[in-house]
Amino acid sequence: MMTPKINICCIGAGYVGGPTMAMIAAKCPDCRVEVVDLNERRIAAWNSDELPIYEPGLEDLVKAAKGRNLFFTTDVESAVRRADVVFVSVNTPTKTFGLGMDRAADLRFVEAVARTIARSADRPKIIVEKSTIPVRTAELIHTILAHSGNGMRHQVLSNPEFLAEGSAVADLENPDRILIGGESTPEGREAMQVLVDLYAQWVPRDRILTTNLWSSELSKLVANAFLAQRISSINSISALCEATEADVDEVALAIGADSRIGPKFLRASVGFGGSCFQKDVLNLVYLCEHFGLPEAAAYWEQVIQMNDWQKRRFTVRVIRALFNTVAGKAIAIWGFAFKKDTNDTRESPAISICRQLLQERAVLHIYDPKVKPEDIRSALGVGEGDPAVRVAEDALTTVNGAHALLVLTEWDEFRSVNPAQIFQQMMKPAWVFDGRNLLDHQALRTAGFRVEGIGRAPLPGA
Ligand SMILES: NC(=O)c1ccc[n+]([C@@H]2O[C@H](COP(=O)([O-])OP(=O)(O)OC[C@H]3O[C@@H](n4cnc5c(N)ncnc54)[C@H](O)[C@@H]3O)[C@@H](O)[C@H]2O)c1
Repeated sequence: MMTPKINICCIGAGYVGGPTMAMIAAKCPDCRVEVVDLNERRIAAWNSDELPIYEPGLEDLVKAAKGRNLFFTTDVESAVRRADVVFVSVNTPTKTFGLGMDRAADLRFVEAVARTIARSADRPKIIVEKSTIPVRTAELIHTILAHSGNGMRHQVLSNPEFLAEGSAVADLENPDRILIGGESTPEGREAMQVLVDLYAQWVPRDRILTTNLWSSELSKLVANAFLAQRISSINSISALCEATEADVDEVALAIGADSRIGPKFLRASVGFGGSCFQKDVLNLVYLCEHFGLPEAAAYWEQVIQMNDWQKRRFTVRVIRALFNTVAGKAIAIWGFAFKKDTNDTRESPAISICRQLLQERAVLHIYDPKVKPEDIRSALGVGEGDPAVRVAEDALTTVNGAHALLVLTEWDEFRSVNPAQIFQQMMKPAWVFDGRNLLDHQALRTAGFRVEGIGRAPLPGA
């Protein structure tokens, strides 16, 4: 196959822009890829040996391409001018004020990027929406380009990113599918072909799906809504299991064996987190409301309410078990990232659980293998000298003098800890609340712990 020699610019050097462009640069050595961001610290980190985000395999991927055909810079306008294809990977958070507050996507960064492109482009570009955006955002981009540019007709494509943090490199290397939406005009089809050819460098052609713009834009929100819904569904069942002595992992195994249901994404937990699920479901809720579909909106909103309930329910179990008070009691927290293999804490269930425990005046000893201490403190709104939060360098020191251990992220290293060793260091009675059903509960019980997992009856201790 002919290798397309194209200049690529990606605006937004975050969790999506960085890894996605590193993969394109690795797989398409003839392409020149520039990743740009206004955040100077982030760009400096990408240009250093300590990357701004942690993902297994990312360091090697970036190292191999950086300086060859992968570049990181803050000079947005020059990079846009050089590019044939401009990916837009900026953040699209939930609006925190005004119309659509707490629901709608805040599109100001997307709008700003559209204006930058309109201002800088001296020839027609292919503009690719990589960010997750509400359906019909391409219309907004088109309108800005048409009115604030110099009359050039750019093509806007939708190419949502489906990678999962923690496995971003593997997902990018071997995606389930690549989705590309565009206009059904000859120019639209031509632009889509450029992107199809780019991905076809390493993705089997039958996994590259092309659709109309609006289907592609909407599919990303719907995919995340379905994934979040599965977690909320199994979490709702976990509450019923705790009340009935059924075991949620056994139920998940039994229902997941049905090929119509499938085994993935059925792990009950302390709740989902991450920057996307909540924001994208809320965005879907807002769109349903906007288009006059309140019943559909209420249906999806329940996914979020169930998740909030699951986090609250877990904290209440901890407080109730510890004789209705955690004031002044040390509690060990294992894991702060929203899932394993990432340093991302956005919307991590650990944040709301820790905040609730701090309101109850607990003293928290927190350890996470990849999240920096300052990021933990800033997520909890506490200063370095605050005696209520101590961030530890390793898992073992957190348990010293603690009344309970809470497992909030499923990091593999927690599995190898010896139950007897931690039991010995803790106040008695000593509890483990395993928010991920990660540890060996029988072994903990044998060591003397009282154990409470998700979706299973409590083990009262030996
Ligand atoms: N994080 C994920 O796992 C994931 C997965 C799929 C899709 N998405 C979507 O991808 C998009 C980006 O997510 P992310 O996690 O990478 O966000 P992020 O916050 O990590 O990165 C976004 C970057 O865009 C930069 N930016 C904002 N406005 C800019 C501008 N005008 N010019 C230049 N740079 C600008 C910011 O400084 C930031 O570094 C979001 O829409 C998100 O919903 C995220």
